[in-house]
Amino acid sequence: MRAGVLTGGGDSPGINAALRSIVRFGAKRGIEVMGFLEGWKGPMQNLVQPLTVADVSGLLHIGGTILGSSRTNPFRVDGGPEQVVETLDVNGIDFLIAIGGDDTMGVAHRLAPYGVEAIGIPQTIDNDIALTDYSLGFWSAIEVVSEALDRLHTTAASHHRVLILEVMGRDAGWLSLYGGIAGGADVILIPEIQFDMDAVYAKIQRRERLKKRFSIVIIAEGAVPASAHGQVVAEAEVDAFGHARLGGVGQYVANRLSERMQMPVRVTNLAYLQRGGSPAPFDRILASRFGAAAIEFAEDGQFDVMTALQATAIVPVALEDALRAPRPVKEGLRYLLELFE
Ligand code: F6P
Repeated sequence: MRAGVLTGGGDSPGINAALRSIVRFGAKRGIEVMGFLEGWKGPMQNLVQPLTVADVSGLLHIGGTILGSSRTNPFRVDGGPEQVVETLDVNGIDFLIAIGGDDTMGVAHRLAPYGVEAIGIPQTIDNDIALTDYSLGFWSAIEVVSEALDRLHTTAASHHRVLILEVMGRDAGWLSLYGGIAGGADVILIPEIQFDMDAVYAKIQRRERLKKRFSIVIIAEGAVPASAHGQVVAEAEVDAFGHARLGGVGQYVANRLSERMQMPVRVTNLAYLQRGGSPAPFDRILASRFGAAAIEFAEDGQFDVMTALQATAIVPVALEDALRAPRPVKEGLRYLLELFE
């Protein structure tokens, strides 16, 4: 059998480790692997290269993706899906592994009626894919967020400041919530719960009354201030999947707080730092398991599914079910937001 693999959407640490696992486990089972470059652009334009065991050697700890990534959407191009099918035929691909978030795996699912047999591997620091406990890359990003908060604490305490850390996550608050708990943030703001500036101000005031002379606020880029008209966008233009680039809500909060506080307020936007660098050990293991599971699912003839971590097992879940809606922070975890206020 011959597999194709592509990596799409915003990258995260652990993708290369998944490629390594697919190729090495595939080789043991007599499955050759071809790598398509730059997400769905690869199959659209026949940008392809063989991936051998030698090609993936030394990749376990390297962040990013050696195949490159893009947000190309074949369904936005006339004849796009047909082009993909033709490229797969020309290269003798029996099945395709799509490593990415909801957009990348969503294309794989929509290609099923065209006869494309695909398996998804969920990869996104946003951790917003349903039916898997974690997506690849999330825990690596949490390490970065948590370390950033440790660093902000020491300088905030020295200068008696309010420091705001803006993190990614699109419409989901996982990075903000888990990062905030790991790094001891005093105020945690997530997109799932609209926030009120008065309440944020009151929390910081309360700390001041308790003689705490600094405060750390962590805010998800998609968090929505009640006083604004929806999410704050850095760039209104949308990508091929209809998403505007979010960013700037941290500065929005800083501006509002500065108007009424004595303490200086400063913002740090963690931006792409939280997506780069080496994968955490958890992601290296998850990537290795997801990669091997994708090969096993293909051998069993299970397609149009995603590799999912459920408790301690890797199981196949239908892409249709996994992608029905993005996964918000669960209600049952929201008590964490106020646990240490
Ligand atoms: O989905 C991953 C992610 O990093 C989001 O958290 C963020 O909103 C988006 O990608 C940024 O996209 P881009 O890489 O196109 O700037």
